[in-house]
Amino acid sequence: MRRKIMAGNWKMNKNIVEAADLASKLKNSLSDVKDKEIVVCPTSICLQSVSNALADSLIGVGAQNLHWEESGAFTGEISAPMIKSAGCTYVIIGHSERRQYFGETDETVSKKLKAALKHHLVPIVCVGETLDEREKNQAFAVIEKQVKGALSSIEEKDLKTLVIAYEPVWAIGTGKTATPEQAQEVHAFIRTLLPKSIANETRILYGGSVKPDNAKILMEKPDIDGALVGGAALKVEDFEKIVKY
Ligand code: PGA
Repeated sequence: MRRKIMAGNWKMNKNIVEAADLASKLKNSLSDVKDKEIVVCPTSICLQSVSNALADSLIGVGAQNLHWEESGAFTGEISAPMIKSAGCTYVIIGHSERRQYFGETDETVSKKLKAALKHHLVPIVCVGETLDEREKNQAFAVIEKQVKGALSSIEEKDLKTLVIAYEPVWAIGTGKTATPEQAQEVHAFIRTLLPKSIANETRILYGGSVKPDNAKILMEKPDIDGALVGGAALKVEDFEKIVKY
């Protein structure tokens, strides 16, 4: 049985005080949830304050990005050991906004994945097609390239903690969700791309306009193992309803 992961991607929202406040409220409202893994991913500047606010809770903290080197002359970047030192256990890699606006490629995703695994951060690797690619019937080819590109040159035995998030770009922040059937089809396809030894255990999350009113029908699909939630993760009541769908 794959344990569901309900993750909030806070993106570039909340300052240090606001992020700690949101985290404390979530700690209270989600304290009774024991059957799922819950994760929040604030901006890097808030990682420590959010980790502090969530001490003694079951909610994990993740970064939204990392650099593959451990230290050095890479102005503006943060590394896996730094993320760990701020109390994190997860990291999002290759989010479509990073691919779209910050030049993230399958190659950099792969390097970042390797670094995350080396430092025992649970990686949440994002893949997904644009609307144009879906309309041209290229969704599966794009996703295959992204998944294989991310995993290239990483040994199977090192991939045991891998988490993938399928986030169709056309569903992110648009209020348009993939139908449960569309999502299930892609999730099942992604599972076929994974090495056999990990395919059945790997959690594949769905992301893209997950809301309190659609979480349940998505999460009931056999290959959907959780959610990566953007906008709705910033509201305590909404995220609570999604986690407890
Ligand atoms: P959304 O974002 O829930 O606001 O669509 C999801 C994501 O980008 O992870």
